[in-house]
Amino acid sequence: MISTASFDFVADLQRRETAMRCEPGKEYLVEARLLPLAREAGYEDVDAYVARLRVDAAARADAVDALTINETSWFRDLAPYQTFTDTMLPALLESRAHVRHLELWSAACSSGQEAYSLAMLLRENLPPGWTATIHATDVSRAMLTRVKAGRYSQVEMNRGMPATRLVRWFERAGSEWQVSEELRSMITTEQLNLAAPFPPMRRFDVVFLRNVLIYFDAQTKSDILRRVHHTVAPDGFLLLGTSEYALDAGPGWQREVSGKTWMHRPEGARPATPAAGAAGPAGVRGGAGSAPARPLATTVPATATASFSSTLGTVARAGTGATLPTSLTPQGA
Ligand SMILES: C[S@@+](CC[C@H](N)C(=O)[O-])C[C@H]1O[C@@H](n2cnc3c(N)ncnc32)[C@H](O)[C@@H]1O
Repeated sequence: MISTASFDFVADLQRRETAMRCEPGKEYLVEARLLPLAREAGYEDVDAYVARLRVDAAARADAVDALTINETSWFRDLAPYQTFTDTMLPALLESRAHVRHLELWSAACSSGQEAYSLAMLLRENLPPGWTATIHATDVSRAMLTRVKAGRYSQVEMNRGMPATRLVRWFERAGSEWQVSEELRSMITTEQLNLAAPFPPMRRFDVVFLRNVLIYFDAQTKSDILRRVHHTVAPDGFLLLGTSEYALDAGPGWQREVSGKTWMHRPEGARPATPAAGAAGPAGVRGGAGSAPARPLATTVPATATASFSSTLGTVARAGTGATLPTSLTPQGA
C-alpha cells in the first residue's frame, strides 16, 4: 500500500496541476493508477516511483495525466443532446443564418465521445452549406491523442453508440472502430487546464462543460464559470453535467430549462424555444430522437438554485454497457 507521505505528495501534485481534489481514502485509486507507470519505469512499488516523481518533471506530468478520471460515453445522459437538437440548434440556425457556421467547445472532452456525438448530430441536422467546428480540450495529453485518433474499442462503442450511427459514421480499424474522416475534420484539439487562466479563445455558440466541475472545490468552480462566461457568445449556451446543473453559476448567468436539461446562458440572452415537434422551422430534422419537444418552462437567474433544482426529473444514463436504439428518446420522457 502507498505510504501516507507518498499519497500526500501525489494528492498535492494533482491539486496543484489540475485542481482536482484527491482526498484521503483514495489511496487505492492512486496506487492502481500509478503502479503500471512504476512498473514500466522499472520500479518495484509506487513509493519508489513517487520518490522519482519528486525529482523528475516529465514523470510528474505522466503521473498527473494517469490520475485524471476519464469516464465518458456516447450521447452521455441523452437529454442534453436532445436539447441540443431540439432547442439550441433551431435557435442558432436562426441567429447564425448570416454566417452559416457554428463554433462549439467540448471542455474536458476526455477521449472524445462528447465531441464526436455532437459532430454526428451536427452533420445529421445542419442544412446544406452550413459548417461547424468543435474545439475539444482536456488537461490530459493522452486523452487528446485519443481524440485525434478517433479510435474506439468495441467495449467503448457499446457504451451508447446506436447501431445505425455506428454503421454510418465508423469504419473498422483492426479490432477497433475509427470515426470517419468527415467527423474528425470537424474537431480541433488543444491541451487546456480549466483551473488555470485560459489562452485567448474565440466565442463559442455552445459549450459542453460536463462532469468535470464535480472534481473541483467551490472557489475553483466559480473561477472556471467566470472564465467560461467570457467564451460563450451573448446568445450562446452552456451545458453542465447532470449532477452539476444546480450549481450556483455566479453573476452574469441566467438559466433556462428545456425538457430535462438546464441550459446556462449569459444574462440578457433571448430565451430559446424548442422546435415544434421534432422538426423545427429552421430546418432541424428529427432532433436527437423522437420525443416530442416540451415547451420552454422558465427562465431564471442562475443564482436561484435550490427552488428549481427539484423540478428536474431523473435523466436517463447512457453507458451501462447496452447498445442503445437509434433514437435518443430520454427514458421516462
Ligand atoms: C469524467 S471526464 C468527463 C468527460 C466528458 N465531458 C463527459 O461528460 O463525458 C472528466 C475529464 O476532465 C478532465 N480534467 C480534469 N481536470 C481538468 C482540468 N483542470 N482542466 C481540464 N480538464 C480536466 C479529465 O482529464 C477528464 O478527461
